[in-house]
Amino acid sequence: METSARPSKGIFDGANSESRQHVVELLTRAYWMEIETVMSYLAASVNLDGVRAQEIKESLAQDIEEELGHARLFASRIKELYGVVPGSEGFAAEQGFLQPPEEQTDVVHVIRGVIKAETGAIEHYTRIVEETDQIDPVTQDMVIGVLHDEQGHRRLFEGFLREYEFEGLA
Ligand SMILES: [Fe+2]
Ligand SMILES: [Fe+2]
Repeated sequence: METSARPSKGIFDGANSESRQHVVELLTRAYWMEIETVMSYLAASVNLDGVRAQEIKESLAQDIEEELGHARLFASRIKELYGVVPGSEGFAAEQGFLQPPEEQTDVVHVIRGVIKAETGAIEHYTRIVEETDQIDPVTQDMVIGVLHDEQGHRRLFEGFLREYEFEGLA
């Protein structure tokens, strides 16, 4: 270790500005994924019809708060890394699979869409965890927490899907 060198400021070090910018880009994508998930889950939590839909609607309504919390975390971290949280014009929808179904009783369509959205989030957040390793432990730590939440969401909806499959409804 060089004793003459200045102590490293990690991700905030001038020499690491490129890495910092890259982390901001990864976080910005994560932010948009959360925002779109809030939109999709909000719509589904209201649109679905039927006795069977109630559990799913309640679960989604709860998730909306969690996903919004994730968006807040990502936004704060973008700011801390000297990035700028984008405005609405930067948004581009990607969740074609989570558009309202033809029939609002089609709960399976929504369950599958949620699993797909959660899987996408898990993949992207796993990438952030990998790419921030040794580079930005604070972002990494935060994203590990969010990743844990998404794994829980996906597992819950996989359980819902299994029930429908077991009953021959999916
Ligand atoms: Fe989330
Ligand atoms: Fe989630």
